[in-house]
Amino acid sequence: MNYLKRIRLARSIVEDFDTYPFCLPLIRSLSTVEFDSSVTFFVGANGAGKSTLLEAIAVALGFNAEGGSRNFHFTTRASHSHLHAYLDIARGTRKPRTGYFLRAESFFNVATEVDQLGSDIIAGAYGGRSLHEQSHGESFLTLMVERFTSNGLYLLDEPEAALSPTSQLAALARIHNLVSQGSQFLIATHSPILMAYPGATIYACERTGISRVAYQDTEHYRTTRDFLQAPEQFLRELLNADSPGV
Ligand SMILES: Nc1ncnc2c1ncn2[C@@H]1O[C@H](COP(=O)(O)OP(=O)(O)O)[C@@H](O)[C@H]1O
Ligand SMILES: [Mg+2]
Repeated sequence: MNYLKRIRLARSIVEDFDTYPFCLPLIRSLSTVEFDSSVTFFVGANGAGKSTLLEAIAVALGFNAEGGSRNFHFTTRASHSHLHAYLDIARGTRKPRTGYFLRAESFFNVATEVDQLGSDIIAGAYGGRSLHEQSHGESFLTLMVERFTSNGLYLLDEPEAALSPTSQLAALARIHNLVSQGSQFLIATHSPILMAYPGATIYACERTGISRVAYQDTEHYRTTRDFLQAPEQFLRELLNADSPGV
């Protein structure tokens, strides 16, 4: 049973579909998105609007736009989009006990904020070491293992940015562990490893809108598979096509 069941863009109150974020093809065509699995992935091209959408969902749920738990209120940049104000949120009957919004882009600022919470909280919920004293990947995994707990709602934007393939597998195992303890995840990702999570819903974010896609049909899976099956041939075709004179 999910904490977040559905979002809907209240299209009738959007004043102007020609300004950001409503002008993005993804948002222009957005109506309803259902969350019927414990893990939902948003995948799609760079610039499609995945971060814009995930951030709006996070803010609508009460998270800080730049990341952290619902108790974080810091800001380091001017503004986030107003999309959150136009989203109707359908919640489940259970409330999450905890939650976190994490974006790779602003992880540094979240770590700084955690430092300011003081050593007691770092010792209790963050593994006892400043996140700044760990590598990006180490601190990301520390957060997932120490701070993410059961019955939580977690929104992650490109968590793979910090993680080696082996660490991505460790993250998958931790996600599985937390899902079995009643947690829900929404994850924007380009990682063909993360999006392989069994039973997940994968939403392809495209100019034409958001639609469900099977893992094996994602561009990420297909391109990675084709590349790894024959890297030399793949590169020969790619590079020759780009520079026919060579
Ligand atoms: N504050 C902003 N004002 C105007 N355009 C923005 C703003 N933030 C992002 N964009 C644009 O919106 C598009 C979608 O961005 P984003 O949601 O970050 O995409 P994704 O996460 O899918 O790569 C990009 O083309 C980006 O340049
Ligand atoms: Mg993004």
